[in-house]
Amino acid sequence: MMIHEPLRVTTPGGAYDVLIGPALLDELADQLAAQGVVGRLWLVSDPQVARLYGDRVLAALQRAGRHATLYQVPMGEHSKDLAVAAQLYDWLLAGGIERRDAILALGGGVIGDLAGFVAATVLRGVSLVQLPTNLQAMVDSAIGGKTGINHALGKNLIGAFHQPRLVLADTTTLATLPMRERSAGWAEVVKHGVIRDAGLFAWLERLDGAMLPDEPACSALLRRAVAVKVDVVNLDERETGERMLLNYGHTLGHAIEAEAGYGTLLHGEAVAIGMDLEAQIAERLGCFTAGDVARQRALLRQLGLGTSIPAGMTAAALLDRTLRDKKVQAGRVRWVLPHAIGSAAVHADVPDSLVQAVVAAACDPQSMTEQTRQ
Ligand code: NAD
Ligand code: GLY
Repeated sequence: MMIHEPLRVTTPGGAYDVLIGPALLDELADQLAAQGVVGRLWLVSDPQVARLYGDRVLAALQRAGRHATLYQVPMGEHSKDLAVAAQLYDWLLAGGIERRDAILALGGGVIGDLAGFVAATVLRGVSLVQLPTNLQAMVDSAIGGKTGINHALGKNLIGAFHQPRLVLADTTTLATLPMRERSAGWAEVVKHGVIRDAGLFAWLERLDGAMLPDEPACSALLRRAVAVKVDVVNLDERETGERMLLNYGHTLGHAIEAEAGYGTLLHGEAVAIGMDLEAQIAERLGCFTAGDVARQRALLRQLGLGTSIPAGMTAAALLDRTLRDKKVQAGRVRWVLPHAIGSAAVHADVPDSLVQAVVAAACDPQSMTEQTRQ
C-alpha cells in the first residue's frame, strides 16, 4: 500500500521513483510492469532476508506470470567481494541472462551494492531494482546509484555508478530488523537531519526512544529522510560537490570501522562516533555550537547509538586512516562539518593539529569518562 507520493530521482544516469510504504512487496509485479521492466527477474539476497521474504517475493512474481529465480550470497560485508560477484556472474550467464532482464537486490546495503555492481557490469549493464529491507538501505544505500565491492586495500574501491530502475521500500519488513541494525540505520537518518533538514532532526527527537513509529508516521518519516538523499543526488550524481555532504561522520567513521576490524562495529555505529567527533571538530573551528554537539549526542544515544571511540584505538592510527579517505585531495582531507542542525559544508583547510587534538582527547580514557558524565 503506497500512502505517499513517490519521490523522483532525476540524474544524468537515470530517472526513477522511490516508493516507500507498508506491504509494497505485494505490489512488486505491478510496479515492475509500470516501469517497463519486462524481462526475466534475477533476485539476489542473503539467507536471513531470503528466509523472511524471499519466498513471498518469488511467489508474488510467479503468480503474476514473471520468470523469477533467487540466488543467496552469505550474509555480511565479506560478500562484497570479487569472488562472490564472480559466482553471481556464473549463475546469471549460465542461466542465460539477457540485456532486457533485471537484477533485483532484496536486502541491506551489502546486497544492494553487490547486486548493483553485478547489474552494472554483466552484459555491460542490465536493469537493477533495489528492494531495501533494512533502515540503512531504505534511507541511504538503495538510492543514488553507488554500487561496488571491496578490495583488500579498502572498502568500495571497485565499483560503478549504476542507477536503479526503481527503488521499492516495504516498511513492514522493518518489523523483523534486529534492534542493533535498526539503531545503525538511524545513524544515517540523523546524518540527513544534521546536514540538511532541521525539522527531520527535531522529529527524531520526538520519537519514543529508538522505536520506529507506527504507520502512517513511519513511512512519512522515512520519506522525509529519503527526500534529503534524493535532493542531494539530483543536484550532484557523481559527488563533485553537494553529494560530499552525505559523507558527514564517515571520514572518522570509516577509520574507526576499519580500525575495529570489519564486522566488529556496524557501519552506522561507526558513523555515529564519527559524527560526534566531526561535530566536535566543527565546534573547535567555531562553526558549530557546543549546545548543538550535545543535542546531536543526546539524539544518537536516544536512538541506541554510542559515541565513544572503542578502547585501544589511537589518534595516530585513526588519523593515518583518514588520509586514505576517498575525499582526500592533494593530501588534504576534505571534512564535512556541520554549521547548524540542518546545514553543513565541506572544509578543506582544517588544521591537522585541531583534528589531532579532538581525536586524541576522545581516545584518552580520562576524557572519555568526562564525556560519559555529560
Ligand atoms: P547489511 O547489508 O549487511 O545488512 C545488515 C543485516 O541486516 C544483514 O545481516 C541482513 O541480513 C539484515 N537484514 C536486512 N533486512 C532485514 C530485515 N528486514 N529483517 C531482518 N534482518 C534484516 O548491512 P547494511 O548496514 O544494510 O549495509 C552496509 C553496506 O552498505 C556497507 O557495505 C556500506 O558500504 C554500504 N553502503 C552503501 C551506500 C551506497 O550509497 N551505495 C551507502 C551506505 C552504505
Ligand atoms: N552514502 C553516500 C552516498 O550515497 O553518496
